Amino acid sequence: MKTVVACRTEKEIDILREANQFVAEVLVTLAHMVEPGVTTEELDAEAFRLIQAMGGQPSFLGYHDYPKSTCISVDEVIVHGIPGKRKLKAGEIVSIDVGVYHRGYHGDAALTVPCGTVDAARQRLMNATDLALSRAILAARVGNHLEAISRAVESTCTEAGFSVVRSFVGHGIGTRMHEEPQIPNFVTGEKGPVLKEGMVLAIEPMVNAGTHDVRILRDGWTAVTADGKPSAHFEHSVVVREHGGEILSATPKLVWGQRVA
Ligand code: MF3
Ligand code: CO
Repeated sequence: MKTVVACRTEKEIDILREANQFVAEVLVTLAHMVEPGVTTEELDAEAFRLIQAMGGQPSFLGYHDYPKSTCISVDEVIVHGIPGKRKLKAGEIVSIDVGVYHRGYHGDAALTVPCGTVDAARQRLMNATDLALSRAILAARVGNHLEAISRAVESTCTEAGFSVVRSFVGHGIGTRMHEEPQIPNFVTGEKGPVLKEGMVLAIEPMVNAGTHDVRILRDGWTAVTADGKPSAHFEHSVVVREHGGEILSATPKLVWGQRVA
């Protein structure tokens, strides 16, 4: 089956950038709220409030009956953690994933921040996942095959001694949150489509400290590591450009949860 990937006009990209800048603002606000004792539903409530105030709609709310505006995935939760009564504890890492629908287009991005001080292993895991995303974005350049993105993620993570989740993928994004192509975070043996100027991709490495195996909880959403070890997740929506991906969901640089610039 031939994969058809849309190329967006600069007008469409301007709207996608607006949607993604809403996402980025929500992410940074929530990242600053992360501290011991805060519940994941408190984070979600703030995201809902902010997205409403911006005049956008939460992309995740109601998507295949998903009940909340964000996914908050703590420590052993890989992705799709449903916000609820869970209280954050010092030493845990917290993935925050947000989608905003605005003027007909979706923005989607995620980051992982520490709650209080975390151990060196978790810091390394977050660093490697963030670096994998940066390298993948550099690979999102005109003329590369999609596989270059997958390879950049996989090699960065395996060289650091971590394992890449295989059962969830990145995706094209535009008028729908999930569009073609699917973007695996590992090399599958298929080169995939040639990247063209104006394709918009949500690249999202999910990386585990231990096994790559995933278990889904009884709620039908929450994806946890099979061995209970921590997992990190970073995501940006990017436009394929001549020299690499242009990040639409750019946030101020967050280092260990501290805003440094
Ligand atoms: N960033 C995730 C994704 O692209 C979030 C989707 S959560 C859902 O798949 F609830 F909307 F499914
Ligand atoms: Co996504």
